[in-house]
Amino acid sequence: MGERLKDKVAIITGAAKGIGFATAKRFAEEGAKVMIADISMEAVKTAAAQIPNAEAFVVNVTDRTSIQIAVDQILERHGQIDILINNAGITQDARLIKMTEAQFDAVIDVNLKGVFNCTQLVVPHMLGKGKGAVVNASSVVGIYGNFGQTNYSATKFGVIGFTKTWARELGAKGIRVNAVCPGFISTEMVKAMPDNILQDIEKRSWLGRLGTPEEMANVYLFLASDEASYVNGVALEASGGISL
Ligand code: NAI
Repeated sequence: MGERLKDKVAIITGAAKGIGFATAKRFAEEGAKVMIADISMEAVKTAAAQIPNAEAFVVNVTDRTSIQIAVDQILERHGQIDILINNAGITQDARLIKMTEAQFDAVIDVNLKGVFNCTQLVVPHMLGKGKGAVVNASSVVGIYGNFGQTNYSATKFGVIGFTKTWARELGAKGIRVNAVCPGFISTEMVKAMPDNILQDIEKRSWLGRLGTPEEMANVYLFLASDEASYVNGVALEASGGISL
């Protein structure tokens, strides 16, 4: 328990499970009021019930109305939004030759347009206060690409583009924007990969293992907190050194 985010209001998208849920727990331990935003009513309620000072919001990041309703409710209840963690993301993998247009569009919609939607609807409030921190979920595949991930890796490269652009546009107005580039983290998204590929990934990480959601939560915590007050526009790789 600490006070690194004392009294801050944080929205975390995709926080019902995986890295988002671990981040919500960690932020609450540091004194934040955590707004769990995810697509299923049951999942957000279950997640929020496990975290002190957490509230549940049904938000589909591809649906701007659902985001706006949540933002309005949060501002009504708390009068502030200090932190936005754009964590929601999906995969629909296939090699270029086999990828359908529907697979391509679905991943672009959630991982890329979803980040644009949430940030565009939250930032006007942060501008009004003259402060805020936005942290976006990119990935190591947003730096290096990945076999079978035409759609996903394009979105994660795109998120770094957003991050560097918004860091320039918003920095002088008191809002820092950064990205996290996780390597391979043991969540459902990664557990869905074939065993032989997972073993190969473990070998390629110089720490010899996958990362944990809790380790990613600590990276989000640093970038979202005032400890990172001079960090703006970075894409911070947290991968056990997989790219070395
Ligand atoms: P996960 O699949 O465990 O959780 C993702 C959450 O996002 C789920 O609760 C899901 O319901 C939610 N979500 C999906 N579509 C949504 C939508 N349209 N609106 C709102 N919420 C939605 O995923 P995980 O592994 O925790 O990943 C979190 C983020 O980290 C993603 O952006 C992912 O791309 C990124 N990432 C994950 C890595 C990993 O190894 N697990 C590696 C690099 C990046």
